Order: sequence, then structure tokens, then C-alpha cells
Amino acid sequence: MKWKDVDYTPYTSTTPYSSEEESIRQEDFIQKLSCLVREMAERSGRVPTACVVTFGCQMNARDSEKLCGILSRAGYMLTEDEEADLVVYNTCTVRDNANQRVYGRLGHLNAMKKLLPTKKIALCGCMVQEVEVIEKIRRSYSFVDLIFGTHNIYKFPELLYMSLTSDKMIVDVWKATDQIVENLPVERKYRFKSGVNIMFGCDKFCTYCIVPYVRGRERSRDPKEILNEIEHLAADGVSEVMLLGQNVDSYGKGLEQGITFPKLLSEVAKVDGIRRIRFMTSHPRDLSDELIALMADSDKICSHLHLPVQSGSNRILKAMNRGYTRESYMDLVGRLRKAMPELALTTDIIVGFPGETPEDIEETISLVKEAEYDNAFTFIYSPRTGTPAAEMPRSMSDEEIKAGFDKLLKTVQDTARKRVARYAGRCEEALVEGPNDHDKTMVTGRLSNNLLVHFKAGASLIGSYVNVRLLENKGFYYIGEML
Ligand code: 5AD
Ligand code: SF4
Repeated sequence: MKWKDVDYTPYTSTTPYSSEEESIRQEDFIQKLSCLVREMAERSGRVPTACVVTFGCQMNARDSEKLCGILSRAGYMLTEDEEADLVVYNTCTVRDNANQRVYGRLGHLNAMKKLLPTKKIALCGCMVQEVEVIEKIRRSYSFVDLIFGTHNIYKFPELLYMSLTSDKMIVDVWKATDQIVENLPVERKYRFKSGVNIMFGCDKFCTYCIVPYVRGRERSRDPKEILNEIEHLAADGVSEVMLLGQNVDSYGKGLEQGITFPKLLSEVAKVDGIRRIRFMTSHPRDLSDELIALMADSDKICSHLHLPVQSGSNRILKAMNRGYTRESYMDLVGRLRKAMPELALTTDIIVGFPGETPEDIEETISLVKEAEYDNAFTFIYSPRTGTPAAEMPRSMSDEEIKAGFDKLLKTVQDTARKRVARYAGRCEEALVEGPNDHDKTMVTGRLSNNLLVHFKAGASLIGSYVNVRLLENKGFYYIGEML
């Protein structure tokens, strides 16, 4: 493929159509796609297959359910096998290793495409929001057929139609948008639980983080749309919802209704059929006392809070632009624990931020002990082009970072094991999520506090709530018995 064949439309930022018009336009493209898919099936004597691979966070997982919804409405058979006629990589770019994984796997897709020249390969998600990534794909991965970004995922039917009727590389990536297009078809991974987007983007600009650049400014969804979606989900058998946003505590800013996150949560709790509500992610700077009181009071809001701390050193928190100190974070943890002694607390931590020293890591380690997390996700800092931290000089060698990381990880594991041990012998309600991966006579359930428990039971219980006694502490999960 020559460069002039590439239809490169960099950084358009909006569409001339309203959200309603867009929904109708895309619906038309789904119809057109289904004609194409039928023709392909007639030609090859089999139903074309599509495989969506998700990298990264819950937000991407939810986006993938939308992509799958569109593909299955268009008549594709969904599969997890990348030998499929169409493969979509929904990418992440929060750390560089996520990008490297995609580049590595693209090589394998190319080999498969050589054996099946009609194969189509699409890339979407956060990684392709970066100009350099698109340049690199154009240069070195010209077998990719379609690239679209985070802001125009709703255009997937139109873009896929264009791609199927052209042999050019189609690129449609927008720098920003103020639009939220509703009513996309969705193919849920689980029939009994679902993510629900409540807001998109982030305005926090932590200095290490690329999310505000690739996901854009904060936009909250209309509460009526959210509640409507949750009512439909409940009517369709969903009993657990996870409200999704990069920073859920600032939900409602910019909306006319004067709605806040706690108000939205109380409305969600009123929806018949919803038994469990989770949310992700909270920011320590914005989490309100109103939310704490509501969580303590509600038996539907799960007893788990993911509260990223990132560092235990005030100097590093300041350089990260987190907007809180170690003391104010611990004060918040104290208020949470006082209101909800049983609350399971988890966090994210970065090691190796520019300017960080082994002493700073010691402060993080002491905070982990003090906060007694049930679990923590630990990451080695990865410079992201365009973020302020990427310009800051590094302070530790790779060996020092690795040593600090290992020490922190050991503390996290010890603290979590101790914390999780307190559940031993208890009887808890679990939502049965699926068969156990290793032992077919067992199922895996999730407790309100997010802990997994494996126990002997039949697959017919998937989607229902059962009482389980927690017998054997395996560190981050339990083996139990159904009561
Ligand atoms: N390097 C390492 N970890 C990062 N995170 C975000 N950006 C970076 C980065 N540049 C981590 C933060 C965040 C989680 C989702 O990913 O801990 O909370
Ligand atoms: Fe990134 Fe900070 Fe926004 Fe979280 S709050 S998405 S870490 S900028």
C-alpha cells in the first residue's frame, strides 16, 4: 500500500449531526453491514467471524461490549479466536508496555492475514489517540485496515462499512468531542452484571497520566439516560451494576440538573431488581462526606472502595499534581473506616516517578501498612509523551526502582493477606459469576467486598446469589462451601 492510498483524517473534532441523528445514521449502517455480511456468508459458505480483544481498563471493557453489540447485530459470529475474519484491538496506552503488547500481537495478525487475505484488522481505543502511534502504524503496520479513536466509537458501523467496501487504510481519529451518542447496541459479557458509563474523560491532569489527553475533557451523561439504561438492564436480568468514570466523584459538573454523584447513586439504588452497585474510580480529592454517609447507609452499595493513592510521599504527590497530602488521604481513610469498619479498601501505586528516591518509596510502604489495603495494584512509572512528568529528569536507576517495587509488592501482599484473613470462617453472600477455570465441579463467586470465593456448586447457579462459608484463605481469594 502506498502512502497516497491512505485515507488519513487526523483530528476532526465533531460531526454535523445531533446525537439522535447519529444514532439513526449508524443504525442505517448496521443494516448495510448486515447485507454485506450476508453476502460474505453466501460467498464463503460460512458465517463470518469477528474477534474483539480488549486491553486495559473497565472503560475499555465496556466499549468492547458496544463493539460486540454492533458486530453481532451486523450478523458476525463473535469468537475469541484471532483467526477470525475481522479482528478489533481495543487498545490501552496508560503505560508503554500496553502499546508494546499491541505491536507484538499485530505481527501475528499480519501472518494470519497472509493466509486469509480477506481478513480485516481494526485498531481503536486510547493508544491510537496518539499521533505518533498512527504514524508508526502507517509506516510499519500498513496491513491494518481501520483505525478509529475513543471519541467516535459510535461511528464503528459507518467506519467498518467503509473499510469493508474499500482496500485503503481508513483512519478516523478525533482530538476531542463534546458529544455523547446514546443507544448503541451492546453485547454484554455477563447477563447478570454490567458496567454503565456515567461520565467520560478526565480533567485532573495528574502529571504522569495520559488519560486526559486520550479520553478528553470530563463529560457527564444525562442522569435520565443513565437511569433509563439501568432500568432496561434490570429488566433484562442484570442485578449488579458498576458505574464507570475516570473520576466518578466529579459526576454532574457541567450538567444543568444540579446532580451530584451521591444523588445519582441514591437514584440508582431505587431501581427495582438492582441488588449491588459498584463504582470506579474515586479520586481522594473529590470524595465527599455525603458519599461516605450514603455508602454506610445503603445495603445496595457494595462494601468496597478503590481509592488510588499513587504515593505516600507528600513531595511526590505534589509533583504528581494529585491535589492531596498523605495526611489528608489518611484522614479520609480514617473517616471511611469509622463510618464503615467492614469496608474493603484497594488502591493504585506508582513506583519510580521522576524525582522519587528510595526514602519516598519507604514512605509509600509505611502508608500501605497504615491504610491496611485489601489489595493494591502496583505499577512502575512509564513516561508518556506529552505529559509533564515525561519532561522531568529520572532520579533512580532501574535497579533501585525494581528493588523499591519488590519491597512495596511484598508489603502489599503481606498486608492484604492479613487483612483478608479476617473473613475466615464467615458466612457471606456471593454472586456466582461463572464456572471455576481449573475445576469444573466448582464455581467462582464475588462477595460485596469484591473478594472472590471458589466453591463446589453447579453452573446452573451462575447469576444467582448464594450464601457461602469462607474456609481457606489463599491470599487474595478464598475456598469456601455453599450453605
Ligand atoms: N505510569 C505508570 N502507571 C500509571 N498509571 C497511570 N499513568 C501511569 C504511568 N504513566 C497508573 C495509576 C492509575 C492506574 C490506572 O494506572 O496508578 O491509577
Ligand atoms: Fe489519570 Fe489522574 Fe485522571 Fe486518574 S485522575 S485518569 S490518574 S489524570
